Amino acid sequence: MTQQIDQVELKRGLRDVYFETTESSNVIGDVGRLIYRGYDIHDLAEHSSFEETVFLMVQGHLPTRSELDLFETSLREARAIRPEIVDVIRSVKDAHPMDVLRTGISALAAFDPDTEEVSHEATLRKGIRITAQVPTIVAAHHRIRNGLDPLPPDPSLDHAGNFLYMLLGEKPDEDTTRLMGKDLIVHLDHGSNASSFAARVAASTLADLHGAIVAGIATLKGPLHGGAAEGVMKMALEIGDVANVEAYLDAKHEKHERIMGFGHAVYRAEDPRARHLREGSRLLAEKQGQPKWFQILSKVEEEMRPFAERGICVNVDFWSGSVYYLLGIPEDLFISIFAVARVPGYVAQVLEQQDNNMLIRPQLQYVGPTDMTYVPIGERG
Ligand code: CMC
Repeated sequence: MTQQIDQVELKRGLRDVYFETTESSNVIGDVGRLIYRGYDIHDLAEHSSFEETVFLMVQGHLPTRSELDLFETSLREARAIRPEIVDVIRSVKDAHPMDVLRTGISALAAFDPDTEEVSHEATLRKGIRITAQVPTIVAAHHRIRNGLDPLPPDPSLDHAGNFLYMLLGEKPDEDTTRLMGKDLIVHLDHGSNASSFAARVAASTLADLHGAIVAGIATLKGPLHGGAAEGVMKMALEIGDVANVEAYLDAKHEKHERIMGFGHAVYRAEDPRARHLREGSRLLAEKQGQPKWFQILSKVEEEMRPFAERGICVNVDFWSGSVYYLLGIPEDLFISIFAVARVPGYVAQVLEQQDNNMLIRPQLQYVGPTDMTYVPIGERG
């Protein structure tokens, strides 16, 4: 990865470059561990709620009961979006859901009383509002593009349950709500992932939180980052039957094509987030009497086992796609669910960046020509 060119040490892709310290999350790639503010992701996925984990990430400690009550209330009270935002969503309804979300967050900035304010308190206030409103934008867009009116948020439901309700029009049962909550917890933050880095770069210029989140969302959309879950489910549908798995993978390997849902820039062991969604997918498939997708994906996982020797193991997106699919969520919304979870992660990292800011400004080594002679346009051949 490191190349010496004319005395300059190039670190392409900034791999293995540490640019800042953090107390938010730690990805321990060789053993497959993920820690949020000192707590193991497995403990949080099993025992915490999304709201409590968001509090932990943006405030730095687990809340007391009264702190959590207050925090949950502020999230619930901020869920509704203004009619002007709904109008913006309507006017771009045919775009990809992530482009609509990016546009929606830009539009939120136009109405937020704190948009230009970059103090810690203002960023936290905005962060709570944006975290609460991202699910509303995603759900409103999905209903509008299907010719339906957006559903108002239901304050009796938690963050995950209300999101599913606004999106699908039915109140989810307790197990489904819990599974979606877990999914959101494990996707919340992930060290210097590409989109959180993009959000930090924007924040390091003292740009505001809405701008930083728009940069994050734009970066998350790429298939090498947030887009892989969609690719995994496309692959499962293309395979169609467990008997076709081997032939499908052989053909992919022959063409040197990547298998979506495997490999990671940091993990060389199994991504710890995958475990919770594998189990969720299995239970959901069983409950719905639809074992086929779980069986196909389990077979893909088994056939890909030799790749683990090269550090190419299953990642979070391998199982999340099947969970969303079984919940009846269309594939082009999979990345938006990632965004619902990751936005408070951006807030936590932007707060850290702002609290101890330094402009992020690396170098590019120029390797182009240096002595070209400018020829006026009329004289060029
Ligand atoms: N299938 C087959 N081969 C792979 C895969 C894969 N999924 N991933 C990496 N490789 C191979 C790659 O072809 C290369 O082989 P060679 O050295 O022979 O050319 C080698 O592994 C190293 O690849 P790389 O791109 O240099 O490694 P990376 O660490 O930069 O890759 C990655 C990280 C996520 C971009 C890559 O593994 C990938 O494209 N995976 C598929 C997309 C995916 O599932 N993305 C979701 C990541 S998890 C969600 C998140 O946290 O954002």
